[in-house]
Parts: sequence; structure tokens; C-alpha cells
Amino acid sequence: MLTSAQNDMLTRTGPGTAMGALFRRFWMPVLLSRELAEADGPPVRVSVLGEELVAFRDSTGSAGLVEARCPHRGANLFFGRNEEGGIRCAYHGWKFDVRGRCLEIPTMASDAPTYGPLRARAQIAAYPTREWGDFIWAYLGPVEAMPPLPDMEFALVGAAHRYVSKKLQECNWAQSAEGAVDTAHFSFLHAPIGADAIAKLPPAYAEQVRWMKADGAPRYTVVEHDGGLILAGGRHADEGETYWRIAQYLMPNHSLAPGGAAGQTCHGQTWVPIDDTSCWVFTYSWNPDRPLGEAERAAFAGGGAIHSEVDEHYAPLRRRANDYLIDRAAQKHENFTGIKGISEQDAAIQDSQGLIHDRTREMLGPTDLGVSRLRVLMLEAARDLAAGKAPEAAMNPSAYRVRSGLIVAPSALAFDEVMTRRFGHPKGRFDLAPEHQAAAE
Ligand code: FES
Ligand SMILES: [Fe+2]
Repeated sequence: MLTSAQNDMLTRTGPGTAMGALFRRFWMPVLLSRELAEADGPPVRVSVLGEELVAFRDSTGSAGLVEARCPHRGANLFFGRNEEGGIRCAYHGWKFDVRGRCLEIPTMASDAPTYGPLRARAQIAAYPTREWGDFIWAYLGPVEAMPPLPDMEFALVGAAHRYVSKKLQECNWAQSAEGAVDTAHFSFLHAPIGADAIAKLPPAYAEQVRWMKADGAPRYTVVEHDGGLILAGGRHADEGETYWRIAQYLMPNHSLAPGGAAGQTCHGQTWVPIDDTSCWVFTYSWNPDRPLGEAERAAFAGGGAIHSEVDEHYAPLRRRANDYLIDRAAQKHENFTGIKGISEQDAAIQDSQGLIHDRTREMLGPTDLGVSRLRVLMLEAARDLAAGKAPEAAMNPSAYRVRSGLIVAPSALAFDEVMTRRFGHPKGRFDLAPEHQAAAE
């Protein structure tokens, strides 16, 4: 449970807020690279952390992210023409480059004495961007504190090993992110119902489902490290063994999913607030050991694993407005929610907590340890920054070189040893395979 003031601090990320200032110390994805498909292609609206922006790819291929409002008379540059090294406002033709500099004021004689000074003053806000892991990332913080990009494995591996997507989520970022560290809900929200549904699963997964359904009260171990938190839920497996699902949360808004066995494709998500009542969930799947196959990519594109089935605006087909197409017969006989898709099941239940979940009215128990540790981590970091102490993770890209996943291990094994057995390192760190080094540089 949080106080009302703590809940506000956790959830508000607009300009001038403490959490907004924390987010602004990190790079974050703002678009899929494929949304700016070509040089001089159509500009795209981007709203992030309560700021209204426009992205465009200029003639040289550089991605620009600038404030949407034209300084002349406030027209929205989304309607602008992207041409010859800049975006030109559709109202009276003022033109700006990816760095926000005004290149031209065609409504004035260029030899007028006031032309130069006015053009200099017409600079618009522009944020640095990078292309990394098939996302366009932006940095919205103070230039003097600009960090390196985080060394996340999905972005370090070659493009053939990776699939990325995004989806709109119609609630505050924090309750959606909390869903990723609250892995106890797998025993319920995502559970298949009935022997028939379980029989259709691959045998190794059916066994895990059996453990998850039989043990709805996993014991949590949470370990803090330089990049964030390890959140491990241990459930009873067969005699003398524990079935561990080990997630990672990486500052300030990334999670790595707990469900993969060694060698399987990994999944992760990043929550980027649009405003305080909606966010983008950038989603990535990657396999460090092999390129992804066509069938696997097609399954992700169709809403498989933790990806969502979306329309041309990246809004899920099953969403708040249509009650996620809940099927009550399926809920009786096939799965716990009657909603199709892991991602949609998560979205439905997270959205249902409210546009901004009221954490002053909760009854947390032992399986909510991950949720409360995440809140403490974020609130402390926001308070520290407000007091002048910058987040160390932002300047430590290698702290993001960690993995998540499952393992079945003897129950007597200490947690550090469980981690080492699964990942070769007690915090889940990985070494990049030589074949990916070139892509990473
Ligand atoms: S409002 Fe943009 S050029 Fe006039
Ligand atoms: Fe979930």
C-alpha cells in the first residue's frame, strides 16, 4: 500500500514531476525503427512523458524528434512536409532540421535585418535519438547528463535473432510494469482450464502449468543489483525440487520475462508513458543462440508469446473499448479469463485496476513482494534524483547485460547457486557470443 502522495510520485511522469525527471535520465524507445521507414517519409506523432512531439527521418536518414508546436503560430508539425533536410510547417512554410534549428522563414525577406535574429530565436526543442535494436530511442533529459544506451541483449544480438513490436496500453505505466514483476499471477490469469486445454500444450510446458496451477503461492526472492532487481518465484515442482521463474526488472522501465528455459527464445518489455493514463509497451523477443525462423516471426506478428494483435495504429484488437472480446464460455471451459492472448489477458486486468491504480486501497500479501520492492526502488530513485543524486544505473550500461528464465533445481540449493546453475552467474550476467560482437559495436 502507498500513501496518496507516494502513488502520485510513482505514476506521474510529465514535465516537472519527480518520476518524470527520473525517466528523463534514461534512453527509452519511442518508435519502432520501421515506423520511420524511409528518408523524407511521413512524419509521425510521438507523445511521451506528457510531451507532444513529432518524429521524422530526414534526407540523410537521421531520425529527428522535435516539439510538435511550430513557434510561428502554433500549428502542429505533424502536418508538415518532410523535405530536403528538414520538416516544413504546412501553415506558412517555416522549416526545421532534426536538431530543431530553424532553417528558413519564407514569410520574410531573408535580407531583412530582423530575419537572422528571428530565425535564431525560432529554435524548437529537439531530443537526441539513436537506433538500437530496431527501436528509435530518445533521450529527453539534460544534455550534460546524457548516458550511454543500455546493453540489453535483444539489442546487442544481430537483427536476424530478434523480433520487436509495440502496443498501446490504456492505463498508467506503473501498474502495467508491476504486472511483470508479479509473476504469481501466472497461476491464475494465464492458466488453461481443464484437461483438454492442458493436453494441447507441449509436454514440457504442460508440466510447468501443472506446477503453477498446483502452487498458487510461490515463495519470492528479490535481489537488488546495479541495473535493478531480480525477482524469482519458487513453486513446488516434483518431490524435492523447486520450479523457479526468474524475472529481471531493469531501471527504470524494462522487464525480462521469467518463462524461458535455457536455449529458448527470450522475451522482454519496456513501458514508455505516453501520458499518465496510457503508455506504449515496446516488446522484444530474441534468441542469442540462433536466428528466429519465419514461423516464429509470423506467430509473434499475430500476437503470439507476449506480443499483441494490433491494428495499424498499434492499438490491440482486443482492448478496453470491447472488453477484450471476453468469451464467457471459454472462461468456463478453456482458460481462466476467456480472453485470447497472454498480452491481452495482462492488458485487460491491468487496465481494469483503473486508469491510474489507487494504491492507497490494497491488501498486499507475501506474493506481492516483487511489486512492493519495485515501488521502493522507483520511489527512492526519484527522491534521490530530486535531492541531487543521479541514478547510477543510467551511467552503467553493462549492468543491463543480464538474463531471465526458468529452472527446476533441488529445493535445498541456495538462491545464488540456482542463479549460477541457470545463467552461469549469480546475478544472471551473460557474455556476448563472439558472433554478436560486430552487431554490438
Ligand atoms: S504556424 Fe508554422 S509556419 Fe506559421
Ligand atoms: Fe502476465
